Amino acid sequence: MKQRTPGSIFIPLTLLIILAAFMMVIPTDFIPQNGLKYIIPNAWHQLTNVLSYWVVWVVLILALLMLLVVDGINKVVERKKFAKLTPAEQAKYLEESKIGYIKRLIKSSSQKQSDEEEEEIILDHGFDGILELDNALPQWWVAMFYLGCIYCVVYITAYFTTDFAHPYVEYEVETAQLETQFAAWVKANDIKVDQADMANASVEHGEEIFVNLCATCHMADGSGAAGPNLTDEHWINQIDTDLYRNIYSMVYDGSPNNPAMQAFGQTNQLTGLDIQDVAAYVYQLNQEKPAITEADGGLAPQGEVVEAWKRQ
Ligand code: HEC
Repeated sequence: MKQRTPGSIFIPLTLLIILAAFMMVIPTDFIPQNGLKYIIPNAWHQLTNVLSYWVVWVVLILALLMLLVVDGINKVVERKKFAKLTPAEQAKYLEESKIGYIKRLIKSSSQKQSDEEEEEIILDHGFDGILELDNALPQWWVAMFYLGCIYCVVYITAYFTTDFAHPYVEYEVETAQLETQFAAWVKANDIKVDQADMANASVEHGEEIFVNLCATCHMADGSGAAGPNLTDEHWINQIDTDLYRNIYSMVYDGSPNNPAMQAFGQTNQLTGLDIQDVAAYVYQLNQEKPAITEADGGLAPQGEVVEAWKRQ
């Protein structure tokens, strides 16, 4: 007779499997981090998330009760079978049951049936002297097989017929999440003109932005085309008394008179931090580099000379 799997082993194990299944299917807002070292923190997040649902607790408690009943039934069956054994078999069974479960499991992996046992389960067909034994499948294997079947049905139903774990729905949810994150990022980085600080700006980054977004109208060297020459001392717009803040406002709010100079900040094409950089670049272009005059191929001056903003 076979030894019974003790309740202290299969009850916690089954509960753990149920918990793991919940962890796989219950959705969470938390975006897991990639990488091996995040496995434990990610799992911990998911575990605390799963345990915050009362349904999970109800299922676990019901499962525990059912498992205790199963364990009780197993004990009764064991007692009944035991009573039918011969005294010698009973003594052997008791002897075996003293070995710990894990040790017994390891030992059994290298055990083989006795010749008499083999005789009983031999099938009555054979070929070339090769015979087949009608071995029972291991219980853990059968359990995994049935669990796999149930999982398949649940998974296919959920995947194909509901919104749960549906790739398109997941895509939409995740896109919405990223958009919210992006909006928060833009808000955090969108500084207004009074917070702009030329000393903190990256002129190299500003140059990159200028070449990508502004050069089509102002030319890469700022000498002007569809947009005015930014290297001379003439200015059409004088919105602020300070030159740097004037440039910043032009890029953030656009030109009040000419829609060709768009409001890059208001339309979210650039955030305030980027405008801080590109304005610093334009400022440097105007104050530190020599003016590109008409004779050098630059655009003719537009607007008025502003004394205070002349090159020092
Ligand atoms: C589609 C063409 C176009 C693009 C792209 C463009 N601008 Fe302009 N920009 C103009 C025009 C036209 C004006 C003149 C506006 C006016 O007449 O008020 C102007 C004016 C300006 C002024 C003020 C000049 C003055 O004399 O008042 C600044 C500074 C400026 N642009 C910077 C930029 C920066 C920086 C970018 C890139 C982020 C940029 N512009 C992109 C067309 C453009």
